[in-house]
Amino acid sequence: MVSEHAPSSTAQVLVASNRGPITYTLGEDGTLDAKRGGGGLVSGLSAVDDKLWVCAALGDGDREAVRRGVGEPGVRMLDIDAEVHADAYNGIANSVLWFVHHLLYQTPVEPVFDAEFRRQWASYETYNRAFARALAEEAGPGAAVLVQDYHLALVPGMLRELRPDLRIGHFSHTPWAPVDYFRLLPDDIGEQLLRGILGADRAAFLTRRWADAFISCCTEILGGTGRTRIGVHGLGADADFLRRRSQEADVDERMAALREQVGEGRKTIVRVDRTELSKNIVRGLHAYRTLLETHPEWRERVVHVAFAYPSRQDLAVYRDYTAAVQTLATEINGAYGTESWTPVLLHVNDDFARSLAAYRLADVALVNPIRDGMNLVAKEVPVVSDHGCALVLSREAGAYEELGEDAIVVNPYDVVGTAQALHEALSMSAEERTGRTKRLAEAATALPPQQWFLDQLEALRQE
Ligand code: G6P
Repeated sequence: MVSEHAPSSTAQVLVASNRGPITYTLGEDGTLDAKRGGGGLVSGLSAVDDKLWVCAALGDGDREAVRRGVGEPGVRMLDIDAEVHADAYNGIANSVLWFVHHLLYQTPVEPVFDAEFRRQWASYETYNRAFARALAEEAGPGAAVLVQDYHLALVPGMLRELRPDLRIGHFSHTPWAPVDYFRLLPDDIGEQLLRGILGADRAAFLTRRWADAFISCCTEILGGTGRTRIGVHGLGADADFLRRRSQEADVDERMAALREQVGEGRKTIVRVDRTELSKNIVRGLHAYRTLLETHPEWRERVVHVAFAYPSRQDLAVYRDYTAAVQTLATEINGAYGTESWTPVLLHVNDDFARSLAAYRLADVALVNPIRDGMNLVAKEVPVVSDHGCALVLSREAGAYEELGEDAIVVNPYDVVGTAQALHEALSMSAEERTGRTKRLAEAATALPPQQWFLDQLEALRQE
């Protein structure tokens, strides 16, 4: 053991992720307001008591909290230099690694791996090293460390060097790129990423498909995965939480408001996403417009309820995408809307209760990503649906592996095909919808978050 990093703590289970379970905002009067986040990782972690979550301070509020020593037991926020973090998070993680794994580049003009990229890469290394050091300090002897996602791909290798006694796992919440696409990365960078993850005892993925893509990259580029074992854990929806939460009074209120906006007797096509390039919201709107064009019988009888919540707005390409979504929704409303009918109801301000309300009343859920690690919306809608919901699902979403049989499956690039799928979904008989929704909900809840986490922990300790 390297004495400089001898453990000062006894944590036996550690989790590392860029985004932590809590965010602080700094008020004008200097007070700090804490807000707890949700999501699969937060519920999964509640399965274990003695644990430590290491995450990055993301904004000024978080940084101030670290400086004042404000914090939650079980959470350690790292105050990484804001510019280093911006390079690593916006520059490398979200603009390069996310793009590679989701196949988002317009390859005639990008990517361009120039000197600026190399500079940002150095920050990505610094940021990963800060996590590796903090984990090395905090982990008790032989502890299990579960490192999350593409932000922290170098951590397992760095941590292994500092603390060979630890059990290290890495989990990818994204897809993994096919090898030919992964090779867009400069050779040394691609190798460094793979070797970083292979520093773990176990590298795990949401589906077999992403695990296989990772294995082919390792095989073709490095000649194999070495001693690292590969696992698949398909995170499911948290049924107990969703069923309880979706029946609360604020959700009922939002439902009443939504019903009024939609109008009496109309069907709804619902989508709920971050405004994220990979979610394919623009083609979804094109498909809806094609539906109104090719099946005019649906005019006045359907409303597309589209919730697209702001995401990664520091990046120009995300801001442009958000604007494109808004422009297209306005165009469709201008072209087809009538005095009593607004064809697209677009909401961009995040409201969890309203999302649940939309899930409950959806006749059709549209989940058409270009590529997606899993997509929990596809799993959550059938669980809380009041009267059954037809699911139009992209075959490129991880959830397709588990839900494909009872969904109406689309190629996300095929707008005409997606319009036809929406027509089919809207026309599905109530009986068929009920049957399919029941089976979808069963498949969607097969691996609740807590079990998902415990399975990984157990597999890691079994070495
Ligand atoms: C994906 C990633 C997560 C990330 C989330 C939200 O699900 O796999 O790691 O936290 O998107 O993105 P953000 O950049 O806002 O954290």
